[in-house]
Amino acid sequence: MILSGKARLAGVVGWPVSHSKSPQLHGYWLEQLGIDGAYLPLAVEPESFDLALTGLMAAGFQGVNVTVPHKEAALQFCDEVDPLARRIGAVNTIVFREGKAIGSNSDAFGFIENLRQNAPGLNFSLAKAVVLGAGGAARGVIAALQDAGLRDIVLLNRTRSRAEALAEDLCKDQTGTIRVLDWEERNSALESADLLVNTTSLGMAGQPALELDLSALPQSAVVTDIVYAPLITPLLALAQKQGNPVVDGLGMLLHQARPGFEAWFGAKPVVNEELRKFVLAI
Ligand SMILES: NC(=O)c1ccc[n+]([C@@H]2O[C@H](COP(=O)([O-])OP(=O)(O)OC[C@H]3O[C@@H](n4cnc5c(N)ncnc54)[C@H](OP(=O)(O)O)[C@@H]3O)[C@@H](O)[C@H]2O)c1
Repeated sequence: MILSGKARLAGVVGWPVSHSKSPQLHGYWLEQLGIDGAYLPLAVEPESFDLALTGLMAAGFQGVNVTVPHKEAALQFCDEVDPLARRIGAVNTIVFREGKAIGSNSDAFGFIENLRQNAPGLNFSLAKAVVLGAGGAARGVIAALQDAGLRDIVLLNRTRSRAEALAEDLCKDQTGTIRVLDWEERNSALESADLLVNTTSLGMAGQPALELDLSALPQSAVVTDIVYAPLITPLLALAQKQGNPVVDGLGMLLHQARPGFEAWFGAKPVVNEELRKFVLAI
């Protein structure tokens, strides 16, 4: 794509940023939609974050995605932050508008859209979910489940205090509860669950597998893993073997990119099989 002088610019700010698939993902959409625009990898050290963002805004960028380790700094930097991002405690999408930085978080959107697309039969308002892990990504996942209407969420994390802090933060001003259990109770917690979500980094390439016995999990329960490298994690392979419907984590990555793209480039991008194949081939 040859850019004109009016090209719209956006990018992803991270440190490091070379591992990010976002430049190729947005580049694919820009190409497909014939948009005069570019999306760049922007490697910014933590101590330079505010300076870099101020410069990008002054240079006329439409906005940026923000990734590790800047998501909390982005929350502080923004002039306005939407209530969901504030609840999650992190910003991953910034739109520059009229000299202001407007922050939001699209991880929750990405997670729920992936489930809606790939497990359309799941009735969120009646469901019981078991969520494993209470790290940064779990906050977006649980906020998404709450907003989708889930009232029964069971949360287990190796470090119980982290799960308790998350549950306290995310239950403020919300109906429904998050029940925190000990990590050792994860097998029995699966009884009568409709949805099982792994948000830990276990099962990721280079990490140990998640040790879980799925025998108490109903066969109709949807099992999803937000880890997407490998695409079929040991957990998803086990669930498939047991006959459970499974949803991999790649869709979350693809769908979370949609709100930013639409805001910066003014067109609605589509997540389909062709895009999945393109991103998997990177
Ligand atoms: N699909 C997507 O779009 C998407 C988006 C975001 C993240 N992710 C993936 O999600 C995973 C988690 O990301 P994150 O940002 O939440 O990471 P994080 O903040 O570092 O949290 C890591 C989580 O994994 C748990 N954990 C790590 N090692 C463990 C072990 N040996 N035994 C039990 N639990 C263990 C941690 O428990 P403790 O609290 O006890 O340490 C914590 O709950 C990563 O693999 C990331 O790539 C995917």
